[in-house]
Amino acid sequence: MKTSTEKVGRNAPCPCGSGRKYKKCCLGKNNGDPPDLAETYLRKYGIRLKKSNDIEAIARAGRLVLDTLDRVESLIAPGLVTDDINTLVHEYTINNGAVPAPLNYRGFPKSVCVSVNEVICHGIPGNRTLSDGDIVNVDVTSILDGYYADANKTFFVGNPGPDARKIVRIAGECLRRGMSAVKPGNTLGDIGWNIQSYAEAQGCSVVREFVGHGVGFDFHEVPQVPHFGRQGTGIALVPGMVFTIEPMINLGQKELKVLDDQWTAVTRDGSLSAQFEQTILVTETGCQSLTPYDL
Ligand code: MF3
Ligand code: CO
Ligand code: CO
Repeated sequence: MKTSTEKVGRNAPCPCGSGRKYKKCCLGKNNGDPPDLAETYLRKYGIRLKKSNDIEAIARAGRLVLDTLDRVESLIAPGLVTDDINTLVHEYTINNGAVPAPLNYRGFPKSVCVSVNEVICHGIPGNRTLSDGDIVNVDVTSILDGYYADANKTFFVGNPGPDARKIVRIAGECLRRGMSAVKPGNTLGDIGWNIQSYAEAQGCSVVREFVGHGVGFDFHEVPQVPHFGRQGTGIALVPGMVFTIEPMINLGQKELKVLDDQWTAVTRDGSLSAQFEQTILVTETGCQSLTPYDL
């Protein structure tokens, strides 16, 4: 029986879709089988699937991120200044042989994002003092042995009021529901739809300008992972994809503005905003968090 490779002329377009001649591309490189998923996802989308050694390394970075968030949580109390959180995150990261990814990233001046109340994300640690009843998101990204893990949580400062409780509960549930859509065969749109449909049914809104992202080899890889969308749309999820889900949920309207510091994103209407983020691996049967915590 003739093998399939022999059916393609040497000068014909390569069946892999590269646009090059077969002889300059895949001829002799394989047995004519369809290219594997890693090749296909790289070529079609630029997505770099992770192998088991990569996944183990991202999970080690993830453990450090979670330990860091635990340290932060034990420090948080009324009277704390947001720059104190930066100091802790910076020193703990360095002392564990890692690098804080935010520092000098596109000009970001600190080692962690700290976002209080109406701040949606990318708050720059500084002299703001935490008050009883505030909510504060702390977003930690560590580079360990060259691998990135990215996670955040929103904490209560002292005793939260009903609005603070509501938005933190809903933001956490949005991440949980987004993760529940992660399995091979589902799409990025399924994740977004799960999040958006729940948030809006609760009378809250989903921020559009910031999205989840591929992560692991770099801070922000493709694909983008919107927290809104329609079922069945977008890229199909396949094992080895690693990306964040990090819905930013507003108690009021979805619109935002960025302050003069060029980073701090706040709700236009001044309403509370909360966020939870984990770094997620697509497995053969579903998903596994590489920065796991209870939601
Ligand atoms: N950690 C954020 C994210 O989840 C990105 C922060 S970029 C920074 O993608 F420069 F502000 F740190
Ligand atoms: Co992220
Ligand atoms: Co983050």
